[in-house]
Parts: sequence; C-alpha cells; structure tokens
Amino acid sequence: MVDVLHYLMDRTGSWVSGEEMAASLGITRSAVWKQIQTLRSRGYPILSSTRKGYLLTQVPDILDQEAISRALDTRYLGREIHYHTEATSTNALAREMAGPAKNGTLVLSEVQTSGRGRLGREWHSPPGGVWMTLILKPDLPPSLAPRINMAVGVAVARTLDLLYELKAGIKWPNDLLVGDKKICGILTEIGAEMDRLDYVVVGIGINANLDHDAFPGVRNGTSLQQELGRRVSRIELIVKILQETERCLDDATSDFEKIRREWCLRSSTLNRRVRIELAGEELVGKALSIDQEGALIIETGEGTTKRVLAGDCVHLRPLKD
Ligand code: BTN
Repeated sequence: MVDVLHYLMDRTGSWVSGEEMAASLGITRSAVWKQIQTLRSRGYPILSSTRKGYLLTQVPDILDQEAISRALDTRYLGREIHYHTEATSTNALAREMAGPAKNGTLVLSEVQTSGRGRLGREWHSPPGGVWMTLILKPDLPPSLAPRINMAVGVAVARTLDLLYELKAGIKWPNDLLVGDKKICGILTEIGAEMDRLDYVVVGIGINANLDHDAFPGVRNGTSLQQELGRRVSRIELIVKILQETERCLDDATSDFEKIRREWCLRSSTLNRRVRIELAGEELVGKALSIDQEGALIIETGEGTTKRVLAGDCVHLRPLKD
C-alpha cells in the first residue's frame, strides 16, 4: 500500500500511468487498482482516467498511520501505532492497554469525545488537532516520573521551534504557551508500585489545524493555524515530535541535567511572579528554578523558598516598585 501511495504522493497533482506505476513497483496493474481503491476508502482523493492513469489531487490532512511509519526513523517510539477516527480519550485507551503494550506504543485519534486535561479538567478535542498518547516503560523510580514529563515538554517546544520557528514557552508544569495563549497541553499519568514504574502514559494535545471558533471553551487558547496563518501537515508534526521525544527521553535517562537546562531556557515561568493553587491552598512568589524531580522552587519571601511538586500555576504581573 505504501508504495502506490508514495509513488502518487511524489507526483501529487500530476497524472501517472497505471502501467508505469505497475512496472516501477513490480506489481500487476490490477494490484495497483486494488491499492487505489483502498487508498480512496482511507480518504485519499485519487482521480482515474483510462487514458491518463491516476492523479492524487492533494495530500489530505488525515493521520495515515502508514505515512507516519514510513517517515519515522525512531528506534522504538511510535513503532507500534493504534489509530482511531474517534476515541473517548487516548490517555484512557493507553492506560487500558499499557500492561502488555510495547514501550513506545503510540495511540492517536482524530477526535476525542471525553478528552482529559490536568486536574480533572475537560480537554476539547475537535477534528484538526493532534491528540496522541505515548506508552512508555522507563527504568526509573516513580519519584522521577516528572523527568519524562519535562523531556516531552522540551521535545514538543523544540519541535515547534524547528518546524515553524515558533517560540513556545513552557509554563510549569507542562503547558506550551505562545505569548500568554495555550497551544499545547501535556497530561502524564503513571502506573506504579512503591519503588517501580510499570508504565508512564504521556498525552499530548496540540491545537494544530483549528480555527479560533474550534475551541470556544478555552480561555486564552491559540492554535498553530492561528499563529502561522496556514494549516500544517499533522503527519510531519507527529513524526518530528516522536523523533525529538526519543532524543529527549534518551537524555532524560542518561544526562537529565541537559533536559533540565533546556527546560529552563524554554520556560516562560522562571523569573516571574506566580501563584500556585493546589487543593484549596495557594502560594505566591517568584519562580526561581526547577529541580531534578520537576519541582518548582519558589521564593515566597526574602530568603525563604518553597518547593512545589504539583499544582496549577498562574503567571502574575510583576509587582510595581
Ligand atoms: C492539560 O493541559 O490540561 C493537559 C491536556 C492533555 C490533552 C491530551 S490530548 C491527548 C491525550 N488524551 C487526553 O484525554 N488528554 C491528552
């Protein structure tokens, strides 16, 4: 299947004769025709003409798992893909299958009907976004699971920078903001025993090809489409995220300081006044740094610092002198 698809993709917008394609791919013309039928049923707009052959009019924005696999050069991340046109939540599915799943398995959906955000919030997941979850099995104690979260945050921020020159700031613990608008959220959940992680599922939600009207419930939200003024290839985006994430996960386990430093450089939380809210309590102060366990260090008074492991972070305006 991949061969006919890629043959046509390389010549998008041009007619290709069935005979030429069959000869180049070493298959019969009727095998080409069968593959064309399957591709059409998967949503590829392919015209056919008895005289001219076949023409792929445009590469559609569908999360074709074969196209993703073909473009990937990762060792293990995304090597197994579970694709859904609709799912309740890719994190919920990933948790259900995490036990026997291979390290690096990717769960993807075009739409989520019960997308979940941090702290029990809802995550609006209409068509056009990237809603994906990775199942990971790192050899780390549960207390170091936030390192995975940080590595993925760095990988996604780096990807947006490399692909689109978009500078997204990481807001602790793991939102990506463009200016003060959220473009991506990450939900990391673990399955663990006292001293051993069984699995980590990392859900990544990116407002990719969404109009502003597509996420009315989100205060201060934005999308790649809005920021760039054009639609993006979600396949290219996912592939790059997987490649950068694999690199960052390697570093997170071998040389975490490297990830921590990049997190700090890309952070929009450090050096500003923040309010952290958790279970009805709140803490206000200046965010100084993040430590090896992903905890935020806040200066709450002269010479007094507090270490916060979890919570909702609000960026505050600087105090006037
Ligand atoms: C947040 O910012 O609150 C985290 C949002 C995480 C959303 C993603 S979309 C894919 C995955 N599946 C879910 O249900 N949630 C995460």
